[in-house]
Amino acid sequence: MKHILITGGAGFIGSHVVRLMVNKYPDYQIVNLDKLTYAGNLENLKDIEHAPNYIFEKGDIVNAPLIDGLFKKYNFDSVIHLAAESHVDRSISNPLEFIKTNIEGTVNLLNSCRNLWSYGEGHLFYHISTDEVYGSLGKNGFFTEETAYDPRSPYSASKASSDHLVRAYYNTYGLPVVISNCSNNYGPNQFPEKLIPLAINNILHMKPIPVYGKGENVRDWLYVLDHAQAIDTIFHRGVPGDTYNIGGNNEWKNLDLIRLLCKITDEKLMRKEGTSQSLITFVKDRAGHDLRYAIDSSKIQKELGWSPSVTFEEGLAETVDWYLNNLEWMEHVTSGAYQSYYREQYEER
Ligand code: NAD
Ligand code: DAU
Repeated sequence: MKHILITGGAGFIGSHVVRLMVNKYPDYQIVNLDKLTYAGNLENLKDIEHAPNYIFEKGDIVNAPLIDGLFKKYNFDSVIHLAAESHVDRSISNPLEFIKTNIEGTVNLLNSCRNLWSYGEGHLFYHISTDEVYGSLGKNGFFTEETAYDPRSPYSASKASSDHLVRAYYNTYGLPVVISNCSNNYGPNQFPEKLIPLAINNILHMKPIPVYGKGENVRDWLYVLDHAQAIDTIFHRGVPGDTYNIGGNNEWKNLDLIRLLCKITDEKLMRKEGTSQSLITFVKDRAGHDLRYAIDSSKIQKELGWSPSVTFEEGLAETVDWYLNNLEWMEHVTSGAYQSYYREQYEER
């Protein structure tokens, strides 16, 4: 039996990874460690909460003795590390929280592995990271695994730092590690601070859809279940010491994406064509806004046989359906602290 620690498993991507691992590998014991910040939500895991191979532990990865205690209690042989502060705009307002969780928290996990593992067969520290560590592209080109790091926001700088530390533990202490850097995810359970669920929520309530700058920034979108499949593949077949880029080969300018989202949502709500488009509102740009991200994922495709399986049109339609069928979920996460977050970010923008 494998004993796997998944951190951040109550968040957006983490909950899909936990569900996949719990359902697909009944002989693995999965322990989900999550602090349950504003972004962590046990409602995301309702369907598997009683699975015999699943345990939830509430806790903070910045608390080193707690991590050591969990390693001793469960005898983990591998870690899939997703816990992080993940939102760029929040990192601009409050960088320190990102330094603590994303850097210090990662080092605490690495230390527990280093101190408590004999590095025998089957041990692996799998660090989930982002394409934002590579910086911002111009109109052409793609990020490859060899692209030099050039993080430009406090969020991406903290993730870049954690990537470097993970590699340092591989090179210095021989810890078996693997890293993947993924492009923008979308899909069910994403917290409505990110562009797509924020826009869906505003469309539902006929509120302005804030588009930063001129809406010309480009992101490469990947359906979250495809990311979870890639993580499963790399966890089982990735080469220790290696890095894998994961992307959707699916670039969209923000404005074009929002227009498509408006069209799909209007059709599903049986609203008159153009209703939601009229909500699009250009607002002050994000400070240091990266122009374009685009991933070259040929390494994982060639070496491990993974490729995205969901088209953007399918994935976006399924995402809108999920939010329309889970209005209560949206209501829960947008009451309370979300209201003041939204006011601070958008009211005077
Ligand atoms: P998220 O913000 O939805 O979830 C983060 C989870 O981590 C939450 O459940 C939160 O409670 C937990 N957490 C935060 N601080 C913690 C702490 N100190 N201790 C324990 N748990 C803590 O994030 P996400 O979008 O699901 O991203 C997950 C990971 O994937 C992150 O490492 C992120 O950098 C990376 N990533 C995200 C994307 C994306 O598009 N969302 C793309 C590439 C990589
Ligand atoms: O590329 C991977 C990264 O993608 C992950 O590492 C991050 O965790 C994740 O948050 C995401 O970062 P982005 O900053 O690209 O995602 P976000 O949804 O915040 O923004 C997507 C684009 O939309 C970006 O160009 C900014 C713009 N935007 C965003 C919001 C929230 C708007 O125009 N209006 C908005 O209200």
